[in-house]
Amino acid sequence: MLTIENLNAGYGDFQALFDVSLELAEGETLAIIGSNGAGKSTLLRSLAGLIRNPAHSIRFDGEAIGALPANQVVARGIALVPEGRRLFPSLSVEENLMIGAYGGHKEAWSLERIYGLFPVLEKLRRRPSTALSGGQQQMVAIGRALMSSPRLLLCDEISLGLAPTTIKDIYAALPSIKADGTAVILVEQDINQALSVADRFYCLQEGRVSLSGRPGEANKEQIKAAYFGLVEA
Ligand SMILES: Nc1ncnc2c1ncn2[C@@H]1O[C@H](COP(=O)(O)OP(=O)(O)OP(=O)(O)O)[C@@H](O)[C@H]1O
Ligand SMILES: [Mg+2]
Repeated sequence: MLTIENLNAGYGDFQALFDVSLELAEGETLAIIGSNGAGKSTLLRSLAGLIRNPAHSIRFDGEAIGALPANQVVARGIALVPEGRRLFPSLSVEENLMIGAYGGHKEAWSLERIYGLFPVLEKLRRRPSTALSGGQQQMVAIGRALMSSPRLLLCDEISLGLAPTTIKDIYAALPSIKADGTAVILVEQDINQALSVADRFYCLQEGRVSLSGRPGEANKEQIKAAYFGLVEA
């Protein structure tokens, strides 16, 4: 469904990704792991159309989408849960969710379905998003992305800064999200969290893919080396 080929992305003169290539099949869950500054968010921003790239460096359903702006990427079925949630503070929970529906490509997800996935949000629907806990805000950010009914959901560090029980609640939603064939790319610094739910993983180190495979195939030492750049003795 998704192919990234030799992606070299960055910010002006600064190059953050070097020849990154990656493939994702329909319904698959990928983990992207890597330390601070490895390029994980840059990769997701490129996929979401927030960084423009050569058209053919990213293909989705056979179409070259690398140069499309974000709104056209959403319309094709790719939605981003951005790092740091980025909710609209002056809007209520429900208004934040409704914004996600704008420009989506079909109507598989509704407010009712989001509230079914995260029941606590229904009780808080009229509250300003700023009145919510970090975990609840993260649920709104995920719900907002789902409201565009994506076929590929991109999640940037959805567990960062949250308590373990809250992380568990959020990850418990994943099977329902995947149930209708939605593919997911999870960016996490927490290796164990990401690998426990992923079909495959890619590790980024200083903007390059340093390791990829299935979670069961790689041992801890290999992953540590790919993650931190340590050379095995
Ligand atoms: N807006 C920007 N302008 C210039 N450089 C940037 C910008 N955003 C990120 N960078 C740089 O690009 C590189 C990759 O950053 P990126 O945010 O993709 O890393 P990351 O893997 O998501 O890190 P983290 O785990 O800290 O979120 C870093 O060197 C970073 O300093
Ligand atoms: Mg990041």
